[in-house]
Amino acid sequence: MDSLDIGETEISVIVADITTLEVDAIVNAANQSLLGGGGVDGAIHRRAGPKLLEECRALGGCPTGEARLTRGYELPAGHVIHAVGPRWKGGGHGEAELLASAYKHSLDIARAEELKSVAFPAISTGVYGFPADHAAEIAIGTCAGYAKGHPGIFDKIILCCFSEESAEHHRAALAEIAGEMGR
Ligand code: APR
Repeated sequence: MDSLDIGETEISVIVADITTLEVDAIVNAANQSLLGGGGVDGAIHRRAGPKLLEECRALGGCPTGEARLTRGYELPAGHVIHAVGPRWKGGGHGEAELLASAYKHSLDIARAEELKSVAFPAISTGVYGFPADHAAEIAIGTCAGYAKGHPGIFDKIILCCFSEESAEHHRAALAEIAGEMGR
């Protein structure tokens, strides 16, 4: 399942480079320093240009499980929400709760800024080693639950995967939610 409407919000799964998306905000899978890195963090900073790092420097970091807002600069997206997901340590260190919190904090920030379209990468599933299938369930479950609890707040929440395999995990999780809703 590629998309599902919940509470007037379209939740969709795509395969794309998130730095190309023209949405109100793209979410970055950042680290606690907010000073850039590899993966999607590196791609976002490269495309946004040096002013993004300047703004991030002034933020003074971000704890795991939280997020911070900046402008998008040279990106087609208007804003970047820098979310810090957990590094996978085997599953017994609150990783699932911290990953869900990173998605929820990102949506709280988007809601506060009245942003209507938000795109997420698969946070923590690269360098941070979070199992992709479990992470997808948390991503979809958190976004679907948020849309259900806040009808009409968002037009679109996009799970922007970087591989077909990652998208399949997210599509399966979305189909599961649809089934639970009797869709
Ligand atoms: N667009 C969308 N998704 C992307 C892109 C892109 N351009 N580039 C990478 N990804 C995907 C990866 O394939 C993975 O599924 O983003 C997901 C998250 O992977 P990482 O970027 O490695 O992020 P994460 O696992 O959260 O690790 C964060 O890595 O880059 C550093 O500074 C970052 O220290 C932090 C850590």
